[in-house]
Amino acid sequence: MKIISPSILAADFANLQSMCEMINASNAEWLHIDVMDGVFVPNISFGFPVLEAVRKHCRKLLDVHLMIVEPEKYVKRFIKAGAGMLTFHCEATTKQQEIIDTIHSAGIKAGICINPDVDVEVLRPYIDKVEMVLLMTVFAGYGGQKFIEESYARIDAVKAMIDELNPACLLEVDGGVNFQNAPLLYAHGVNVLVAGNTVFNAENQIQAIDKLLESSNLT
Ligand code: DX5
Ligand code: ZN
Repeated sequence: MKIISPSILAADFANLQSMCEMINASNAEWLHIDVMDGVFVPNISFGFPVLEAVRKHCRKLLDVHLMIVEPEKYVKRFIKAGAGMLTFHCEATTKQQEIIDTIHSAGIKAGICINPDVDVEVLRPYIDKVEMVLLMTVFAGYGGQKFIEESYARIDAVKAMIDELNPACLLEVDGGVNFQNAPLLYAHGVNVLVAGNTVFNAENQIQAIDKLLESSNLT
């Protein structure tokens, strides 16, 4: 399965409704929503009201990426606000299983994420319990960073764990995805590409989404 999840962080926040309409008309199956608290990451983005407003206009699955400490405190509210896939950072909590159970009891998908400096082995106990692993290919916090080339070895290691423990689990990467690395990422077994600047800085955003999606045919 190949999915593009454009990251709202790079969109024009004064025109979120037209952004949602573009996403609805595009071949992007998901919309990536980056929530930052200024503690887990040095940046602050937005919270529930923005997610609720987007939910009203966007017909695609909202792929919510929580970059917050103690995500267990807010999981229920993000579910209520409209998340369809809810992903938390493994290193931001000690309550991983509790969070996954809360997400599942609401009937939505659970994702687990790690930053580039976290050992991929921390994911192993959770791979057969989640619908998705999100591997950061930049340090969480800002859009527009350069893709970390060392990520491919980590992608291969996580893909091997997924194949062994839960082949239905999706693998998503986030940070610095562009037209050059997209074919290679798909070739390494990535299912979901998050793309902020590559989509929203493009002259034709719908075509940019198609171009990223077509990368899966180039490998
Ligand atoms: C970074 C965010 C990303 C970011 C990606 O902390 O998690 O989702 O928006 O932006 P690009 O694709 O521009 O690197
Ligand atoms: Zn993200």
